[in-house]
Amino acid sequence: MKRKEIFAGNWKMFKTCSEAVNLAQELISGIKIKEGREYVVFPPFTALKVVADTCKGSALRVGAQNMYYEKEGAFTGEISPVMIKDCGAAFVLLGHSERRHIFHETDALINKKIKAALTYGLQPMVCVGELLEERESGKTNIVLESQVKGAFEGLRTEDMKNISIAYEPVWAIGTGKVATPEIAEEAHVTIRKYISELFGENVANALPILYGGSVKPDNIEGLYSMENIDGVLVGGASLDGASFLKIINV
Ligand code: PGA
Repeated sequence: MKRKEIFAGNWKMFKTCSEAVNLAQELISGIKIKEGREYVVFPPFTALKVVADTCKGSALRVGAQNMYYEKEGAFTGEISPVMIKDCGAAFVLLGHSERRHIFHETDALINKKIKAALTYGLQPMVCVGELLEERESGKTNIVLESQVKGAFEGLRTEDMKNISIAYEPVWAIGTGKVATPEIAEEAHVTIRKYISELFGENVANALPILYGGSVKPDNIEGLYSMENIDGVLVGGASLDGASFLKIINV
């Protein structure tokens, strides 16, 4: 079965408003739109609105890199799903490994954020992935199972229509050490199995699972050729228009 593909760029804590708008414009004019493929960029909060305005009417969609789960309130420094939606964003990245490991986000917190994002009409892209020591000690599947089951606990089958997952092994993020297509494919199959245990085979087979971690123009083809890799989430290589275009136009 043909699943929806998503090609996404995570700009992390890079780009001022004007730099972000310039990059979005370069991408919009360079995308060779393919049927069944969605294109998403995740600018920093400060550039969300200007990038969303720039992308209006184009194939490029916009998401936030994080959010808090309350609608509003005394939560200094936090951003709510309503605010993100109001900026014109459609997606939100949740559970990125930098959020998990630098800012100590737990599966329980990520679960609350996913539910809030769905309540306010945002599409969560949920990141999971093991640390190097977890892979080396044979714990990859245990980690993926607890992250997947923790993130999606209490969700309904119909919620899954609006969800995508990014498998991002932590040892491959920003390190230049990409997972081989075979290692990534194996993890994607495993993640799909856990989704199937939670929501059944139809949901699992329809769910886009992206790979992320040192994706570059020179390794995209091998990754994209794998049956269970339905797109990519790109960090470093998404900051440069020419290199990101080579990836998303694969
Ligand atoms: P990278 O980042 O492509 O720079 O490894 C990926 C990510 O963190 O989403």
